[in-house]
Amino acid sequence: MSDVSTEVGNEHFRYIAERTTPEDEFLRDLKKAAAAAGIPSIWIAPEQASFMRILLKAARAREVVEVGTLAGYSAISMARALPADGHVRTIELDPKHAEFAERWIARSDVAGRVHVLRGAGMDVLPKLAADSADAAFLDADKASYPRYLTECLRIVRKGGLIMVDNAFAFGQLLDPKATDREVPAVRAFNDHMAKVRELESVIVPLGDGLWVGVKR
Ligand SMILES: C[S@@+](CC[C@H](N)C(=O)[O-])C[C@H]1O[C@@H](n2cnc3c(N)ncnc32)[C@H](O)[C@@H]1O
Repeated sequence: MSDVSTEVGNEHFRYIAERTTPEDEFLRDLKKAAAAAGIPSIWIAPEQASFMRILLKAARAREVVEVGTLAGYSAISMARALPADGHVRTIELDPKHAEFAERWIARSDVAGRVHVLRGAGMDVLPKLAADSADAAFLDADKASYPRYLTECLRIVRKGGLIMVDNAFAFGQLLDPKATDREVPAVRAFNDHMAKVRELESVIVPLGDGLWVGVKR
């Protein structure tokens, strides 16, 4: 037993990725089509998607709220972890992304179970009812994360999950010469999240770092 974790590097992450249940052809095709349509390739990693599905299944989640649809990759992936009457409500600001995602959702095995809500996260989230979701996933503009979190603590039921992407700030979290303009917002959010007493939470080092919190 030790308080110190094994040091992991890129080789470990490659090892993990090679041994995770692979994504299917539909999601691989979606990514290819999205890239061809000029949509940035900033969806979650397959092993992160797999981990999130496992969490959603373990939590017996039925209703999920997401901020940041992009091409619909994570929304479709999460919907597959829900029972047949489950839903993902996913919020997207960019009309081009929303339109692409809606087309691919309609062709997917979870058509009718993923609903794209167009608009800014901070305009849409306040309209969602309290205790109406079992889980939330934040993956959009980082400066808004503290306000999204406040809304999600209202929307997600007690015992539900709140997952937040990019805790590692696009790989620049600990880089003193970080260049991405959203890095300071991620650092500030991580410090904020660590103090939120309504959640038991941890950063899981998959993809670009995934916060997972359970609402007490
Ligand atoms: C990292 S991508 C989401 C990736 C997606 N969750 C996945 O893994 O497949 C971030 C998305 O958030 C959207 N976005 C940015 N600001 C937003 C806002 N204020 N409200 C809603 N969506 C926003 C962007 O247009 C982009 O499509």
